[in-house]
Amino acid sequence: MVRVAVLAGGPSNEHEVSLATSANLLIGLRAGGHDARPVLITRDERWCVGRADDELSDAQAAAAAGEHLPASEALARLADDDTTAYIGLHGAFGEDGQVQRLLEAAGIAYTGSGPVASAMGMDKELMKLAATKLGAACARHEVVEPGPEIPIGRVLAVTGLPCFVKPVNGGSSVGVTRVTERADLAGAVRRARQEDGHGRVLVEEAIDGMEVTCGVLRVEGVPHCLPLVAIDPKGHEFYDYRAKYASEQTAYICPAVVSEQAAESMREVSRALFVALGLRGVARVDFIVERETGRACFLEVNTLPGFTEHSLVPLAARTDGMALPVLLDHVLRDNSAVPVGRP
Ligand SMILES: Nc1ncnc2c1ncn2[C@@H]1O[C@H](COP(=O)(O)OP(=O)(O)OP(=O)(O)O)[C@@H](O)[C@H]1O
Ligand SMILES: [Mg+2]
Repeated sequence: MVRVAVLAGGPSNEHEVSLATSANLLIGLRAGGHDARPVLITRDERWCVGRADDELSDAQAAAAAGEHLPASEALARLADDDTTAYIGLHGAFGEDGQVQRLLEAAGIAYTGSGPVASAMGMDKELMKLAATKLGAACARHEVVEPGPEIPIGRVLAVTGLPCFVKPVNGGSSVGVTRVTERADLAGAVRRARQEDGHGRVLVEEAIDGMEVTCGVLRVEGVPHCLPLVAIDPKGHEFYDYRAKYASEQTAYICPAVVSEQAAESMREVSRALFVALGLRGVARVDFIVERETGRACFLEVNTLPGFTEHSLVPLAARTDGMALPVLLDHVLRDNSAVPVGRP
């Protein structure tokens, strides 16, 4: 039995998704026999430390009643109780290394990747460069830096139309637009810019094909690929926020039906990125298998994949015969107090 605090909510635009993830983490950790409590981080970064048998809703009610603490006091309390932080956050602050840095400074062991690996994993441009170096195919792309000019001609000369516009550091498809008309590009860039902490925007060629994701879980020191999941966002142009979390029509096929060559290349790239970045716990790598060529095109890495009802890693683990408490135990054991790569 481990004393665990599930960090939930946070200041990012994925606050709601994090609440859904964290509710499932509490259920899974308690089913695994752990003493798990919620720690709600409000949108304005105040911390509300719940009691051992509290649900997230209790922590939300306490936060609404003004029972919250500055981060430093909440962290001191968790450190005194010898608690391991299970990070259920997504997006900026939770997934980009900031909270990991705070936890390290407070001497609290936490699940998932370290501050540097998290920051790198969150940067979609950097990860495309890394994946290319590892031999993966990637969509052609251009980055639009902050500034008054949006270089429409330069971007479209590289990506063509249709293209995808997204924040360089983002998640849950927030701020992502599929652009089919030249006239819509500038508006899409402005929308994506608002969702990126540094105002940087990635524009990439749209790949026509099947979306496939590969979970990687470190089991007793060794990164292990979970079964591939294919996603069909039926009725949606792409796997947008509503297709991810609201739609009951989105179809998930696990194991994905793809050629052995494409499957092996996705597993190889995913495992190699996990090792190269020194990731911990569980991560998820997204691809599109191109319809015309059959090649797997790398999209991005998620160092804190979701655990909502609709999420892909718990589904892949289940398909592998691994129940949620067992999956969470592997992540819990691969915490920041354990040297990378060691059981
Ligand atoms: N180049 C592309 N070609 C085709 N579809 C794309 C492309 N880029 C993104 N998409 C679509 O947009 C979705 C979101 O893109 P991406 O995974 O890069 O962003 P995200 O917001 O980080 O998502 P996540 O929830 O996985 O963190 C993809 O799942 C896919 O449906
Ligand atoms: Mg994705």
